Formats: sequence, C-alpha cells, structure tokens
Amino acid sequence: MTDKQKPETLPPELQAILARPFKRIVVFSGAGMSADSGIPTFRSGENGLWNAYDPSELATPNAWRRDKETVWAWYEWRRGIVMAAQPHPGHLAVAELQRRCDAKIITQNVDDLHERAGATDVLHLHGSLFAARCSACSKPYALGEPPQEQQRQITPPRCPRCQGYIRPGVVWFGENLDTTTVKLARQAIANCDFLLIVGTSGVVYPAAGMVNGAPSSATIIEINPQPYETSSRIAFQWQTTAARGLPEVVRNILI
Ligand code: OAD
Repeated sequence: MTDKQKPETLPPELQAILARPFKRIVVFSGAGMSADSGIPTFRSGENGLWNAYDPSELATPNAWRRDKETVWAWYEWRRGIVMAAQPHPGHLAVAELQRRCDAKIITQNVDDLHERAGATDVLHLHGSLFAARCSACSKPYALGEPPQEQQRQITPPRCPRCQGYIRPGVVWFGENLDTTTVKLARQAIANCDFLLIVGTSGVVYPAAGMVNGAPSSATIIEINPQPYETSSRIAFQWQTTAARGLPEVVRNILI
C-alpha cells in the first residue's frame, strides 16, 4: 500500500450520513477511480509521449479517419498501462460492497480494474479497451499482448473476416453510447437510495447528466480530491482519493 492509498479518517458528518440503512446502492465512477492505480486521468496526469496530445481530439471518429496509426498507438499504450496496473483498496471496497448488497456499478472508465477487484456486471458507459472490434463489420477481435515500448504510430490489425481495420471498443466523442448499457444505468440510478460518485469531473455528457436521474430522496455522496462543482443535491463531498476514502465508506455504511 502506498502513502496515497492509506485509509483516511471518516469525517463525522459523513459517518452520520452513512448510519442510515441503505438498500439500493449505486457507485458511479470516472477516471479518478483508477488514478491511484497509476492510470492517468483525462484532464490531468503524466501521459509520457502523449502529453502533447489532447485526449478529446484523439478519441474521435475524425482522428480515426485522419490518422488511424496514431489513434491505435494511443489506445495500445493505454491498454498496456492498464494491464500492468493493479486494482487499489478502493476498487476492492467497491467489489465488497457489491457482494454485500448487490450494489450496481456504473463507470465511465474503459479499464477493467473494477472487474479485476472482483466486481461483476459493471456497466461501462464508454466501452472497454479490451473489446476491440472490426470498424467495418463489427466482428469482435481478440487482441494480443500490447507493445512493450511506447510507440507514436502503430498500424491497426485487419479483420480476418472482411479485412476492415480493427478499432478500439470504446465510445468516441460524437458516438452514441450503447443503448442497453444506458438503459440499465438509468434504471439503476432512478431506483437507488444511495449514490456514490467517485473520481469524475462531470463534464462529459450524457454520462455526467445521468446522476441527475437519482430520486430526490436518494442520498448522494461524492469522493474527489478536487470536486468540480457543488450541488445542493450532494449530501457530502469528501475531498479525498478513491483509494483512501472508499474503504472507509464501505466499512461504515449501514446496509
Ligand atoms: P476526468 O479526467 O475528466 O476527471 C477525473 C476526475 O477525477 C477529476 O475530477 C479529478 O479531480 C478526480 N481525481 C483525480 N485523482 C483522483 C483520485 N485519486 N481519487 C478520486 N478522484 C480523483 O475523467 P472523467 O470524469 O472520467 O470519455 O471523464 C469523463 C470522460 O471524459 C471519460 O470517460 C472519457 C473522457 O474524455 C470518453 O473517452 C468518451
């Protein structure tokens, strides 16, 4: 456990909030959820070779049309980082919460750290780095090992069925989210009595707007070292990291 991952004392105000019993819990995570595992967030962090690139320009159908080699190299670099990373105590806490009370987990993240911590049925609003498919016929494609070294350009593989280029299985800016995933996520939020928002800047729609679908009776808590905005709907904003805060919330929440 690194210093960044040491548990933090639960603020008394939050302790009081968690002392009410909750039945239908939803965890809604963003890139900050994975930051303590060493995965750079979208709007900050150390991106090596890719510091000069703006993710919101690389993660687009236009970038793919213009320069597949750069886009593919960027996703392969990210896949390599995720594969080398480990879930942190916050991921483990969320998985435990799911085991205890069937909590629903909704994430904007395209990594698999929630699953590797033991969570199941995670709703990935923005797809997955591990679900590559043909850009022409959509046939799923099994990826091999990512390259060991960072490379600025890599030619994407071709589909064995139709020779189309293989593309990342993520949702790019300007593309639609998967309708079934969105429906399940909206249902879970609309039915929740406790919504735990972790590590998102809340600026990318439609994902960001989904949390507004929580019933007015639901208790909403946010964990973020630098919360983006204050909303009167949020009962408590805990300015801490996912790795430090989540284990304490899960330890103290009454179910
Ligand atoms: P962002 O990079 O926009 O925001 C990350 C958030 O995590 C910020 O609010 C940080 O303050 C917070 N944060 C940083 N370190 C943290 C830590 N250790 N613990 C908890 N929180 C921490 O990421 P998202 O909000 O997930 O979309 O971005 C949303 C979407 O924009 C992404 O899914 C992606 C991106 O472009 C697509 O690719 C379509």
